[in-house]
Amino acid sequence: MPEFIREENVSLSKAAQTGRYSAIRKASVDICKPLSHEDHVVQPAAFVSPPKWHLAHSTWFFEHFILSKNKKGYKAFNESYNYLFNSYYDSAGSRVLRTDRGNITRPGVEEILQYRAYVDEQVGTLLETGVPEEAAAFIELGLHHEQQHQELLYTDIKYILGHNPLFPQYHAPALRAETPVRPAAFIDMNEGIYGIGYDGDGFCFDNEKGRHKVFLHAFRFMDRLITNGEYLGFMEDGGYDNALLWLAEGWDWVKQNRAASPLYWYKIDNNWYNYSLSGLLKVNESAPVTHVSYYEADAFARWKGKRLLTEFEWEAACSARYREIPSHSNFADKRALSTSAAHEGDDQLLGNAWEWTSSAYLPYPYYKQATGALGEYNGKFMVNQMVLRGGSCVTPRDHMRITYRNFFHPDERWQFTGIRLAESIV
Ligand SMILES: [Fe+2]
Repeated sequence: MPEFIREENVSLSKAAQTGRYSAIRKASVDICKPLSHEDHVVQPAAFVSPPKWHLAHSTWFFEHFILSKNKKGYKAFNESYNYLFNSYYDSAGSRVLRTDRGNITRPGVEEILQYRAYVDEQVGTLLETGVPEEAAAFIELGLHHEQQHQELLYTDIKYILGHNPLFPQYHAPALRAETPVRPAAFIDMNEGIYGIGYDGDGFCFDNEKGRHKVFLHAFRFMDRLITNGEYLGFMEDGGYDNALLWLAEGWDWVKQNRAASPLYWYKIDNNWYNYSLSGLLKVNESAPVTHVSYYEADAFARWKGKRLLTEFEWEAACSARYREIPSHSNFADKRALSTSAAHEGDDQLLGNAWEWTSSAYLPYPYYKQATGALGEYNGKFMVNQMVLRGGSCVTPRDHMRITYRNFFHPDERWQFTGIRLAESIV
């Protein structure tokens, strides 16, 4: 049994397992439906994977980790796919370089959809005939892995279409409330010992396990995310020209990349626009800012005389307010696929934008890396990355948890990354 799964979670009925499997697998294909075949293949940056690759890789995950190990006499759909669609599992053999994923023009989209249908049928019969406990646990992991790739599909599609000179629309714009954002307030948290990490009965990744205590000094956190309008204030005050606001690495990053705004922002006829999945639109100043790097989040906080939360402060604050994900949270199921202004009573801790924390991505004290290939899932990335919390407007709702730890390098900003301010109470 891999460390990711608790035994009690694999006792779902066959019908429920099959239904959940089918629904999650279908959601990935549905995300790609508005795309042309050409959209499925390009790789405009090394960190962006082509949508076709995501569709194939998430399928390979089921084939490699479940079918080939649990289905007697299983015949691979195509032996070469192990090389083409393995992502980073050294223990699963050699693979196409990440930077070359956009060169895989063959197999085409139709063949990849056939591959998905083949694997889905095979997993379906496995579920029908009764799945050994360990295989059921891997299927659950495979479904959460699929949902991680659904978020990546949205962000990679945004990067692909957002770097097309025509700025194509992915979906019709949602109705936008242009009401001014409500004033922010700060919420106090007492000094004390707080429990951190997952201790529920459901699924969680290995990096959330090992519930432990941390001591936190008293702090306060802003009761909503920073808006585009507030970030514009930083830009107009010369934030990108003032070295004193930036970490040394951040200042180098600003100069090397000539950074002067969040990703996807364009100044046209003296007005700021940003690319959204609904095309190039005027910046909505009430909505939370997204697509900022850790360096930008940190510099903005310094400009305001505040700081970012640590991941422990974030989890303590969120756990104090919620036991489960609130229904109003802006996750992918809301179909906005962009951030929306905070309404009264919405602290935006969950949904809208992943919040950069000032915590390095490190193992918890009782972290145990899974054995075998799945030990490569999270543990080997625990260096030089920062933790983000809370999920975004393109995260599947039922994939999210309060203890969920996302992580990216500090310069990366093609995810829906945002800013929340905090300060110590002295
Ligand atoms: Fe993956």
